[in-house]
Amino acid sequence: MGITRKEKTELIQRALEVRKYAYAPYSNYAVGAALLTESSEIFEGVNVENAVNSAGICAERNAVFQAVTQGHQSFRAIAVATDNGGSPCGPCRQVMSEFGLDIEVYTIDSDGKIILETTVGGLLPEAFGPGHLPKE
Ligand code: THU
Repeated sequence: MGITRKEKTELIQRALEVRKYAYAPYSNYAVGAALLTESSEIFEGVNVENAVNSAGICAERNAVFQAVTQGHQSFRAIAVATDNGGSPCGPCRQVMSEFGLDIEVYTIDSDGKIILETTVGGLLPEAFGPGHLPKE
C-alpha cells in the first residue's frame, strides 16, 4: 500500500514532535523518527545516547524495534527529523532493509522541510538480506 498525502503529513509531524524527547547530551544532535505500519499505525523513536558511546541507539532503529515489539513487521514509510535533514546511518539502513526495500524514507529538517525523499532500497543498494542466508 502506498502512502497518502495526509498520512505523509502526519508522519512528518510526529517525527518533528517526538524529536524533543531525544536524549543526545553528547552529540547535541536530536533525532526523532516516526514509522508508519502497513496497518496505518505510527511508532516513534528517538536517539538515546549513553556515556558508553556504543550503548546508544538511533531514532530509526528505536522506532523499528518498538513496532516489532508490538507485533508489526510490515512498514510503509519512515520520517526522520533532525536539525538539518541528515540521512539514516548504515546500521539503521540495514535494520530497515530487513523489513523491506520499498519502505519510503523522508528526512526532515527542523523547519519541517523535506530534505531527502527516497526508499530504503535507494539508501542501501545491493542490500544483504534474509534471502542470502541458507534455508536450513
Ligand atoms: N542518529 C540517529 O538517531 N539517526 C540518524 O539517522 C543519524 C544519527 C543519532 C546517533 C547519535 O545519537 C547522534 O544522532 C549523532 O550521531
